[in-house]
Amino acid sequence: MTPTAITTAGPAPAARFTERYLLDPAVNADPYGYLNALRDHAPVHWSPMHRAWLVTGHEQVMHCLRDPAVSADRVRPLMDAVPQGARDDAERAFTILSRWMVFNDPPQHRRLRQVFQEQFAARAVARYSAFTERATRAMLTRRAAPGRTGDITADIARPLPALVFARWLGVPQAHAPSFWYWNARVGDLVLGAAQEESEYRTSLRSLVSLEEYLAGLVAERRAEPKDDLISSVLAGGRVGDGVSGEEFVGMLTQMAFAGGETTGNLIANTLLALLHRPDQLRAVREEPELVAAAVEETLRLDGPSKMSIRTAARDTVLDGRTLRAGDRIFLVTAAANRDPARFPDPDVFDVRRTGGTHLGFGFGAHFCIGAALARLVACAVVGVLVRDYPDLRLEGTRHTWQLSLLNRSLTALPVRY
Ligand code: HEM
Repeated sequence: MTPTAITTAGPAPAARFTERYLLDPAVNADPYGYLNALRDHAPVHWSPMHRAWLVTGHEQVMHCLRDPAVSADRVRPLMDAVPQGARDDAERAFTILSRWMVFNDPPQHRRLRQVFQEQFAARAVARYSAFTERATRAMLTRRAAPGRTGDITADIARPLPALVFARWLGVPQAHAPSFWYWNARVGDLVLGAAQEESEYRTSLRSLVSLEEYLAGLVAERRAEPKDDLISSVLAGGRVGDGVSGEEFVGMLTQMAFAGGETTGNLIANTLLALLHRPDQLRAVREEPELVAAAVEETLRLDGPSKMSIRTAARDTVLDGRTLRAGDRIFLVTAAANRDPARFPDPDVFDVRRTGGTHLGFGFGAHFCIGAALARLVACAVVGVLVRDYPDLRLEGTRHTWQLSLLNRSLTALPVRY
């Protein structure tokens, strides 16, 4: 008789979770395996390494984005990081940044945001559709002859949104190079890329230059309105009535910065997702109305924004953990967007997915005001590329990503057109 094996073991113990640095190059290159493990370990986790709460569960992130105890006001800590030698330039920059709606809580936030509400509505941005399609085709004709190899990020994904946003905002083409240079340097400051004192100084001064430039443009449009965002907001009559001219210009310094690079990343990430998955690409080619779904699925699965940062305004309890006033909170939307409690088969890219609210544009009061414009531009570019380039394919199999806590941004996307 064979002896019966008696086992005393219970369920296999869960693998020990090991904290990792989000800017570790391996995690940055492919964050999702680690973020899934982190969410499974604890959807609300204090990270000694980041000195911040990492919130990764969909429900918990949504909760924070609605909770008045969780504040968006984080300009002071940003300025506290400025090295001593660059402090002279910090005070004015601080004033400008404190006018960005994304750094304001209610009721200030509502007061600021309503100035732009009408201009960003889907029906208002829809009139840029024909211009965007035309500009996309013209740019591709010049840069992407069928059969040629190229880099989608440099050929179209970055320059096309820049062209559309400059035109939409009202920045003349001749001024575009300095306008985009200042914007990029402001990005270094806000996204944490500035490290050295000289980099901080350049960024802080760029923000001031951008503000001075936009103040000049606003003055010109007051004198002589054109068909652009600045003129349209001025015509709406809200500037000077509840929101000052300085606040308006301060908010304008956020606009291009918030939309330019992110929209380029959305275009590149969507094309990477489709070119990796022939079945999904085929579905989109056969049913062009699925282009919008592919863009949406990319926002969920591999969107341009990995997290939003907040601070606890007062002590608050989340998932049984006490967040203390002043604690930093990383709302890791890239993890929440793959939460199996919200999305079936969360790691699968499926253009026919229905249901579930992804957080790729944020959620709640700070939901991306530029979402309709970003969608319009991304759908136009992706649509033209999948329809007009039947042989489009990836060149090479390894892709590298810029090192960033907040952005998911390819360094290049080599293809054959
Ligand atoms: C694919 C492109 C884009 C992505 C992924 C994106 C993502 C986001 C996210 C996640 C937020 C919420 C931030 C937070 O809660 O802290 C946000 C807010 C914002 N976005 Fe976008 N964005 C995009 C395009 C744009 C465009 C085109 C514009 C304008 C031209 C824009 C302007 C803004 C502004 C002004 C806010 C702050 C809104 C507020 O605080 O009420 N974004 N965006």
